[in-house]
Amino acid sequence: MTTLKHLFERNQIWANDIKDKDPEYFMDLSKQQAPQYLWIGCSDSRVPANQIVNLPPGEVFVHRNIANVVVHTDLNCLSVIQFAVETLKIKHIIVCGHYGCSGIKASMEKSAHGLIDNWLRHIKDVSRFHADKLQGLSAQDKHDRLCELNVIEQVTNVCNSTIVQNAWRNSEELSVHGWIYGIKNGILKDLDVTFTSNEELEKRNGPV
Ligand code: CO
Repeated sequence: MTTLKHLFERNQIWANDIKDKDPEYFMDLSKQQAPQYLWIGCSDSRVPANQIVNLPPGEVFVHRNIANVVVHTDLNCLSVIQFAVETLKIKHIIVCGHYGCSGIKASMEKSAHGLIDNWLRHIKDVSRFHADKLQGLSAQDKHDRLCELNVIEQVTNVCNSTIVQNAWRNSEELSVHGWIYGIKNGILKDLDVTFTSNEELEKRNGPV
């Protein structure tokens, strides 16, 4: 039987390092969480939310799935958004995609991948909506552009969720952001699709 002993050893070292710097760190954090950001990102092991923005535990509420997709009927993702906005009173939702996303690449292929093809359908829809922007690009450029367009579409999906719509209807301060991360250089890029109201959303996308 394997017990993954090395991971428990690494955990001890990590916890001890933090406690050396601040003996009350974990006790203080155990009393409450008050993160300011909800991160919706890809499950890819190279895109860890907290580390990329260099924030410690307690600062980022996180939901991750393959290719950072926000589906209108996904109760898992919607529950995370609801808890973040209504209970934790988070003011910023960040949808963060990444270049080189395998989920996006798989969605561009004709071959079958099994169950996941049902999930990737959502990204194929993004390709279809934006066929004009993808036409004529090289395979690499098309992959990169689709990674960006997918973030932009998912930002719109977050904005159109009942949770964000309710928050905006109640004049609550809530921003939805779309970012993309470069796994080749470790750098985040803002895709400049930040929305804080239906007026802004309509200006870009037409009637909500
Ligand atoms: Co990915």
